Amino acid sequence: MAIYYDQNIQTFFLEGRNLSYVFGINETNFVEHYYFGARIGRDDLRYALACGGDYAESAVPGLTNSARNSYNNYGAELSTYGSSDYHECSLQIMFPNGSRLNEFLYDSHEILSEKPAITGMPSLSGGETLRLTLKDKNSEVKVNLYYTVYEDVSVICRHMEVTNATAEDLKLLRAYSFTLELPRNNYDVLTLEGAWARERYPERIPMHHGVVSVDSKAGASSGRLNPFMAVLDRNTDEYQGNAIGINLVYSSSYVLKAEVGSKGSSRVMGGINDFDFSWKLAAGETFETPEVVIAFSDNGINAMSQTFHDAYRRYLIQPSYVTAHRPIVINNWEATYFNFNNERLMGIIDVVKDSGIDTFVLDDGWFGARSNDKAGLGDWVVNTDKLHGGLKTIIDYCHNAGLKFGLWFEPEMVNPNSDLYRAHPDWAIHVPGIEPCLGRNQMVLDITREEVRDYIVEAVSKILREHAIDYVKWDFNRVLTENYSLGLPADRQQEFHHRYALGLYDLCERLVNGFPEIFFEGCAGGGGRFDPAMLHYFPQIWTSDDTDAYMRTQIQYGTSICYPLSTMSCHTSICPNHQTGRTTPFATRSDIAHLGATGYELDTKKMTGEEIAEVAGQVKAYHEMEDLVLNGDLYRIENPCESNYFAFVLVAKDKSEAHITAFRTLCRANDEVKRIYPKGLAPNAVYEIRELGIKLTGSTIMQVGLVLPNAPVDFKTFVFHLKKAD
Ligand code: DGJ
Repeated sequence: MAIYYDQNIQTFFLEGRNLSYVFGINETNFVEHYYFGARIGRDDLRYALACGGDYAESAVPGLTNSARNSYNNYGAELSTYGSSDYHECSLQIMFPNGSRLNEFLYDSHEILSEKPAITGMPSLSGGETLRLTLKDKNSEVKVNLYYTVYEDVSVICRHMEVTNATAEDLKLLRAYSFTLELPRNNYDVLTLEGAWARERYPERIPMHHGVVSVDSKAGASSGRLNPFMAVLDRNTDEYQGNAIGINLVYSSSYVLKAEVGSKGSSRVMGGINDFDFSWKLAAGETFETPEVVIAFSDNGINAMSQTFHDAYRRYLIQPSYVTAHRPIVINNWEATYFNFNNERLMGIIDVVKDSGIDTFVLDDGWFGARSNDKAGLGDWVVNTDKLHGGLKTIIDYCHNAGLKFGLWFEPEMVNPNSDLYRAHPDWAIHVPGIEPCLGRNQMVLDITREEVRDYIVEAVSKILREHAIDYVKWDFNRVLTENYSLGLPADRQQEFHHRYALGLYDLCERLVNGFPEIFFEGCAGGGGRFDPAMLHYFPQIWTSDDTDAYMRTQIQYGTSICYPLSTMSCHTSICPNHQTGRTTPFATRSDIAHLGATGYELDTKKMTGEEIAEVAGQVKAYHEMEDLVLNGDLYRIENPCESNYFAFVLVAKDKSEAHITAFRTLCRANDEVKRIYPKGLAPNAVYEIRELGIKLTGSTIMQVGLVLPNAPVDFKTFVFHLKKAD
């Protein structure tokens, strides 16, 4: 049993694989946080409660004689504002008289063996769940806090429901997914920052008195700051120390905050961004927040990453796709951009058809009047000027060549120069009478409106129904502006970004789940919406528009801090690279692309005969390691954001096999010897290292290391396959 309630001490013990989360109902009926961290015994933790720095705080009415007499003294499971807690809070409700005083106390609880779904939003499955009900001391508002724990992974999932059982409408000014109290004031935070074509670079800073936060105000989880934050002990590194990872299962504007207060402790919280947010909660209605996943490791950041990877592979990503062979695609985007016809596409298919590449993906430009990015979005009708005979000709050609066929869509968008816009200008997000911002010459459709979603579902479904399509790439190339819906009354306009997320999930439910035989890949101008909610629908996401092998080592390194390799779509592309102008060896590009769901994205006309011949060998090599990419454990050995080297080690769960890819950025003449020290092998097992033609024990390989030869080549990869010898 993962959840235990001790009635005598009124304490809840939530126990995951290696975590304990403990809280209790205190002397004032307040639900007070006691502990979160590595697994401990089921002891009475009230002995450790203390207050500091708050001597002169305001007292809860009626508690003036008690030492612990202020909400500011308590660690909160649900933090609110208005009484004596001065920290950032996770819930703020405004009552009809304008009061924002919220004080929630214990009401009841239930332990659930089935994890309830969150209405209209994706969440993890499985585990055992505690539903804890709190009630406002001064009104009929109730809050359910949900906690799910798992016996096989050290994560805890949380979300909140607010029910307005009063007779009047209320306004939610803030409704985060969680509050997490931590006992000290000296942590670091690790976040993933970036931009288009350089997404998810790790950034570590010390927490300080006051608030450190990351957020998105863009209506998408965004490539600027991933909805991820880890709180680390100061001495935590990849392989030792406490690491608490926090990741929101959410795709719209979010915030995560870490605050150090005045009493020597810290509080972390977050969820839907309350900047430009409010939600009218009518009498009798319930509001549900998105889920947050909190992962714990006392073995450093790498083990925290492995915990996220296992949790997402087991409980988030569609089970039918998570471990299955992924399509090895060739995508025409960097080869042709918008400039293609049947012959051009057939030329690509002809070159790769016997290479092992198994799927051809036709990217942007096949529909409407789309000869550049200024027109056509929204018109999901085949452009027969470009594709004589329609899509059928190219699909048949593909299938006859033994390849599957994939197609690009950008369902949420419209160009002002499109038939859709001309027919329904009001469907594009804008404020009436004000000229809207264009991003990449396009506007975003108002998918908070049902009629707009119905159009999108029907237009995309028609293409999918009428053609033999095996794979879809779902793109999203600009974020939201104007933030206004013609479908909402004035007092609900600040609900817009959250309603956009709900609209997006509805589209995914109807399109992705409506065509279960089609494999869907996510994309957002590269990795601009790389979040767990999207991973629930798309088992893999185009990691970045930057396909330069050197930058990919950094982008894939940063992304792996939270997300499994199997979720990263990674392509070998042509050089000089279209984003950086850099030239790297063909083998390097493919070795780095193999550390994810691999594929190709290049102009076969510009490939040398040697390169074309190499592709078959590369695909074969990928098949040999694919199971490790999809299901193995990742060990990050060298950090390319901080050094001249990159190295990933992938180890089978049963330790029978491993794959090592190392990379040196720049060669230095007569360089010092470089050894890498793999991890995760069975120390006593003997492994055959194919490339070296030797057998060594796991302990030797890990302790003595592997030498990287010093060849005079920049951007060079070194690959080793290890197999347990019989
Ligand atoms: C952005 C994507 O990331 C690219 O791969 C490509 O699909 C373009 N959009 C097409 O417009």
